[in-house]
Amino acid sequence: MKKVILFADTGIDDAIALIYALNNPQIDLLGVVSGYGNIEREKAYRNVEYLLELAGWTDIPVISGATRPLNGEDPVFFPNIHGVEGLGPIQPPIPEERYANRTNFRKLFRLIKKNPGEITIVNVGRCTSLAMAWYLSPEVMGDVKETFVMGGAFLVPGNATEVAEANFFGDATAANFICQNVASLTIIPLNVTREALLTPNEVDFIAARANTRLEKIIDPILDFYYEVYQEQEPGIEGTPQHDLAALMAALDLPGLFTYKKRKVRVQHEESYANGLSIADFRPGTTNCSGEGCSRIAMELDRTEFVKQVMKVLAKKR
Ligand code: BDR
Ligand code: CA
Repeated sequence: MKKVILFADTGIDDAIALIYALNNPQIDLLGVVSGYGNIEREKAYRNVEYLLELAGWTDIPVISGATRPLNGEDPVFFPNIHGVEGLGPIQPPIPEERYANRTNFRKLFRLIKKNPGEITIVNVGRCTSLAMAWYLSPEVMGDVKETFVMGGAFLVPGNATEVAEANFFGDATAANFICQNVASLTIIPLNVTREALLTPNEVDFIAARANTRLEKIIDPILDFYYEVYQEQEPGIEGTPQHDLAALMAALDLPGLFTYKKRKVRVQHEESYANGLSIADFRPGTTNCSGEGCSRIAMELDRTEFVKQVMKVLAKKR
């Protein structure tokens, strides 16, 4: 069983990753750090609380993450992709006062200190909160076993700009810091997560087996997401499950991904290439080792991906 702390900006694909984590007996979800990204931090926080409540797992701590990128600029949100509330057509009924109970980074550090060398961090939002945790307490963060980050786009078009993927573009300074300073880092970039598609038929299959209140929201949120993608990229076969792919990478499922090891830099000085992820894939280059060397996912086996998703989200009853 993996002890996981999820850092998320809970929009639609983050929600699917969270639902998968809550349904997977291989994952012991110790906490969720909620920051801005797809939506405002408050909404992301509220969405996690709502999903945990639907699941009946209200003892999992939700930790308040960042509200804006490290450079202090106003964040750019994506209501056009995730809906104004972040969960497509769903309006979570949780009252505003509940946000007053926010837990802060002290809780995060306590969780890591209690489980030294045992925690896997999966970051599926902007890298700001994770970078802040490292700036605040490198000693404690050094006790994390491994880190998985959904972000970047290597040698392919981005989604936030021509060259940059949204998580790295949203806070390129933080992304660059994480890529250059965090040991045992695995990056799951857009090249790969774009292949992690769930088609409408596959979603129908999951929906037909949905049993719990939590499982029943998969269908409406993914229908909404599919319509958004159809408008943006007419003819796309399904919806890319970026964040679920990153979480599944953390489970070391055999045959799901291939990897290369490279040093990664992220363009973070203000320019039209802000958020661009750079690694050396020129012919003749080989895997790196040692400090500053990250593992980058290069390919995903979609058949295996769908099989693994169904195992957890479409269980026979
Ligand atoms: C990433 O950006 C966010 O919009 C998604 O939730 C995902 O984490 C994809 O580029
Ligand atoms: Ca996300």
